[in-house]
Amino acid sequence: MLDLLAPDEGDAVLEIGTGTGWTAGLISARLGAGHVVSVEIDPAMAAQARANLEALGLTPHVVVGDGALGHPESAPYDRVHVSCGVRTVPYTWVEQARPGGVIVLPWMPGWQTGHLVRLRIEDGAASGRFHGTSGFMLMRSQRPAEDPITGAPRTGTSTLDPSELSAAPEGLSLAIAGLLPDVQGHAVTGPDGTLRVAARWNDSHALAVFPPDGTGALVEQRGPRDLWDELEAAVQHWNKWGRPGPERFGLSVTRQGQYVWLDSPSSPLRK
Ligand SMILES: C[S@@+](CC[C@H](N)C(=O)[O-])C[C@H]1O[C@@H](n2cnc3c(N)ncnc32)[C@H](O)[C@@H]1O
Repeated sequence: MLDLLAPDEGDAVLEIGTGTGWTAGLISARLGAGHVVSVEIDPAMAAQARANLEALGLTPHVVVGDGALGHPESAPYDRVHVSCGVRTVPYTWVEQARPGGVIVLPWMPGWQTGHLVRLRIEDGAASGRFHGTSGFMLMRSQRPAEDPITGAPRTGTSTLDPSELSAAPEGLSLAIAGLLPDVQGHAVTGPDGTLRVAARWNDSHALAVFPPDGTGALVEQRGPRDLWDELEAAVQHWNKWGRPGPERFGLSVTRQGQYVWLDSPSSPLRK
């Protein structure tokens, strides 16, 4: 992540999620502690981080607060390094960074894995490509509520080849995350070879169970959205696009919101 951040001499860096202070310490050692502000939501963690850093003679500005708000008092920043998982990138970070500045964060949309992304700020928006998978604890306030699963199931079968989802390539995960924002889900293969794919969004839920003998999946959908149908449509889109890999996808964050694109910010996945 620090390689992607690539700060230059004299840069001002905002870090979100101080934790132990390790990352803030590395950036301070590289740039000088006076150039580093690190925001931690947990006061006890922040106090421990300050103590850890002081023991090394490093005194970056460790602030207790919600990192989603950044730290406007020391803006603008040349680099923003986010050390906790983010579902929705706060536009505040874009506003508090300089044009040409860089934000590096673990984007964790909720579908399977997270993805490391490097965004560059230009014309009031931040855009950039993905750089591999990444898993972090989610930012507080972005942790999804678990609505109870209720309602009568609508049952059906699936036309999907289970191998598409059991070892979903990163490009497919990004396509699903971009086409179905805020849908959480995962695919798990049990010890007997049964594949279970679950998806949820608020009170909508889908579960598909693919038996190992290849006899076809049984699907149950509940709630206002037919999440399984939407998931199948997303897989079909990805196939139609020629099964692009992660290097062709990117994320843009504007004042209006965020979106995933294919090849260029002018080609959002969701039209
Ligand atoms: C994976 S740890 C950070 C590790 C850190 N880079 C280090 O060097 O130890 C994530 C941290 O983010 C903090 N965090 C979670 N939500 C936050 C928020 N909304 N604002 C600021 N910090 C937050 C957690 O309390 C935790 O300390």
